Amino acid sequence: MRQKVTVVGAGNVGATTAQRIFDKGYADVTLVDIVEGLPQGKALDILESGPILGSDAKIIGSNTYEETANSDVVVVTSGIARKPGMSRDDLLLTNMKIVTSVIEETSKYSPNSIHIIVTNPLDAMAQQALKISGHAPQKIVGMAGILDTSRYRTFLAEELNVSVDSVAAYVLGGHGDTMVPVIESTNVAGTPISQLIEPTRLEEIVQRARDGGAEIVNYLKTGSAYYAPSASIVQMVEAILFDKKEILPCTAYLNGEYGINGLYVGVPVKLGSEGAEEIIELKLNDQELSALQKSADSVKELVDIMQKA
Ligand code: APR
Repeated sequence: MRQKVTVVGAGNVGATTAQRIFDKGYADVTLVDIVEGLPQGKALDILESGPILGSDAKIIGSNTYEETANSDVVVVTSGIARKPGMSRDDLLLTNMKIVTSVIEETSKYSPNSIHIIVTNPLDAMAQQALKISGHAPQKIVGMAGILDTSRYRTFLAEELNVSVDSVAAYVLGGHGDTMVPVIESTNVAGTPISQLIEPTRLEEIVQRARDGGAEIVNYLKTGSAYYAPSASIVQMVEAILFDKKEILPCTAYLNGEYGINGLYVGVPVKLGSEGAEEIIELKLNDQELSALQKSADSVKELVDIMQKA
């Protein structure tokens, strides 16, 4: 029997994620949205591509949650997206309400699932999902690090005119603005990045990756990125469904690791069928450690605002 993935939010990120999973054919998909007809129409359209792509997976759309029951993975993308001039934090209270109502349903219908939180600001939304679901912290993870790392690797590969496959990198911390690239672990086929790109140019590349989401929002004007985000989500879905135990940068609940307690922050995680099975503690230099702490502080600020709301 195929495994089951629910994607909540049939907008740009959600529908593209559902499509990518369907195309690969290894899981059935339930697409949920609050807008009547939207998930049903998109799901049917995707389903009708099956004979061409050779996918026998099932995909259905729904405005309610009964059909999501017993999902192995639930991806939460429902919420509002950024417009030019908005920061991810501007979405906080609106998306908090949306994520709360969604998690009440998904955690009830799929108590054993792993939730991947994508709705921004996602570190704070993961914290909210944990609170509402009552699930174990390792069963709730956020998607950001893979995307930030992918943007960073894209620009490094372009700069050096090498394959993206040859560039290894890790980005930790919050999504975007407070992301922390680990320079020590960035290398091209084993050669440290510091030997290949001079520091001021490297900082420019880091900054472009940091602003990667805003760069796209400024082009699109009416929404935010979704092709690279959905590809990042699918990498996490596959690590979980296939119990790959892949080490990926994800937003996970820290219990003292990196000196941070009780908060969701982007760190390398061993991702498998139990969710965030292990937090990997990289050796960071003082500057990286304090940048990670700053990232955690900004998540804490958002969590405090949510608690007072
Ligand atoms: N329940 C279900 N779906 C909802 C709800 C809700 N309570 N509220 C909103 N939605 C749906 C909207 O109807 C819309 O179809 O969420 C979808 C969001 O889609 P888009 O507006 O296209 O936004 P998208 O680009 O997909 O981004 C979604 O992901 O990357 C983050 O910052 C981004 O927070 C944003 C989220």
